[in-house]
Amino acid sequence: MSGLPPPVGIDQLSFCTAGSFLDLKTLAHAREIDWHKYYDGLGQEKMAVPALDQDTVTLAASAALPLVQHLNKNHIELVLFATESAVDQSKSAGLFVHGLLDLSSNCRVVEFKQACYSGTAALRFACMFVAGCPNKKALVLTSDIARYPLGSPGEPTQGCGAVAMLVTAHPRILALEPESGLHAQDVMDFWRPHYRQEAVVDGKYSAHMYMSTALACWERYAAATGRSLEAIDKFCYHLPFTRMACKAHAHLLKNVRGCEPTAAEVNRHIKNSLHYGRVTGNSYTASIFQGLASLLDHTQEDLAAKRIGFFSYGSGCTAEFFSGIVQEGYGLHLFSKQHGELLAHRTELDYEQYKAMFTRCVPTDGGIHTFPQGHTGPFRLAGIREHKRIYERVQNSPA
Ligand code: COA
Repeated sequence: MSGLPPPVGIDQLSFCTAGSFLDLKTLAHAREIDWHKYYDGLGQEKMAVPALDQDTVTLAASAALPLVQHLNKNHIELVLFATESAVDQSKSAGLFVHGLLDLSSNCRVVEFKQACYSGTAALRFACMFVAGCPNKKALVLTSDIARYPLGSPGEPTQGCGAVAMLVTAHPRILALEPESGLHAQDVMDFWRPHYRQEAVVDGKYSAHMYMSTALACWERYAAATGRSLEAIDKFCYHLPFTRMACKAHAHLLKNVRGCEPTAAEVNRHIKNSLHYGRVTGNSYTASIFQGLASLLDHTQEDLAAKRIGFFSYGSGCTAEFFSGIVQEGYGLHLFSKQHGELLAHRTELDYEQYKAMFTRCVPTDGGIHTFPQGHTGPFRLAGIREHKRIYERVQNSPA
C-alpha cells in the first residue's frame, strides 16, 4: 500500500431543471427587442421557468435521487446545500432533501451561501471531509432559481436548476486537485436583501468583476501549481449567460499570452460546457457544475486523464480557479441519457403563461394552502400550512 492519500472528488453528478421553459424569441417579441441580442449577444436560447410546486428543494432532491437510490445511504454523513435562493432563513434546505431522500440520521446537514460561488465552497469542504474519512461519502447539492425584475436587463438571463454531486474517495468521474487560485473582495455588483424576491444587479459592473477576478484567480493558481494554460485541456466557467464564459475565456487567453485567441480555440476549450446552460438559463450555484455535466455528456473524444479547469465566481465577491482530472471509465457513470430526456420533455410556455408563473408566489399569510401539480418531477411542494412547507414524493413519477 502506498502512503499517498487517496484521490477525492466527484464520484457521480446529476442535474435537474424545471419542466417548463420560455423561448427567448417569445420574450424578445414581448419586449420588442431583436431576438439575436439574446441568442447571439447573451448566448441564451431558453429559460427554465419553475412551477409553483417546484423550488430549490424539489429541484435538488430530484437531481440527487439517481445518486442515492442504489447506494447504502448510511455512508452519507455530510449533506451540504449551496444556494442563494433559500426557502427558509433558519432551517437548511438540505434537511427537507434529507427527509425526501430518506437519508441516515447519522449525518451533518448544513446550508452554504455566497452567491453563485457557494457550490464550489461546498464541494471543497466535502472533499476535505472525505479526505479525512475516506470510507465516508458526502452529498453536495447546488440549487437555485434566478429571478430579476420583469423587463430588466437581467430578465433574459433568468433560469433555474440543481446539480447533485456525490463526493467520495477514489471518485469515478473527477479527482479534484488540491491547489486553488482565490480572490475575495467586498463589492456591490449583485445582491438580494431578505425582503426582495428578485436580485438587484449592477450588470455591467458584475461582468467586469467576473472578468478581472478570472485573471486574478488564474494568476494565483498558476503561481501555486507552476502550470501554464496549455496544461488545462477543457474549461468550465460559472454561467450567468453563456457568452459571459466565452468573453472571460478570450480575455484570460489574451491577457496571459499577450495575443488574441482564435474563436476556434475558445470553442475547443469551452463550447461543450455551454449546451445545458444555453437552454436552461442561469442556475447560480449549480451553473458551473451543469457546465461540467454538459462537457462530459457532449464530448465525443475520451476525456480520461484530461485536466479540467474551473472558474467559479460569486458576486459580492468570492472567486476561485481550481482543477480536476477526469477518471478512466468516467463515461459509464454519467446520466447523459436522463439529462437529454429531461430537456426534451419540457413544456414550452407562451408569454402570458410565463408572466403568470413569474408573478405567482408562495402565500405568506400563515394559512393553509395546497398547490396544484404543475410538473412531472419525482418531488413537489404540495402546499404550505401555518408557514410550514409540505413536500411530497410524486406517485408514478418518471425517476
Ligand atoms: N444582435 C446580436 N448581439 C446584440 C444585439 C443584436 N441585435 N444587440 C445587442 N447585442 C449584444 C451586445 O453588443 C452585447 O454584446 P457585447 O457584450 O459583446 O458587447 C450583448 O448583446 C449584451 O448587450 P448589452 O446591451 O450590453 O446588454 P444589457 O445592457 O441588456 O445587459 C447584462 C447585459 C449582462 C448586463 C444583463 O443581462 C444583466 O444585468 N444580467 C444579470 C447579471 C449578470 O449576469 N452578470 C454577469 C456576471 S455574474
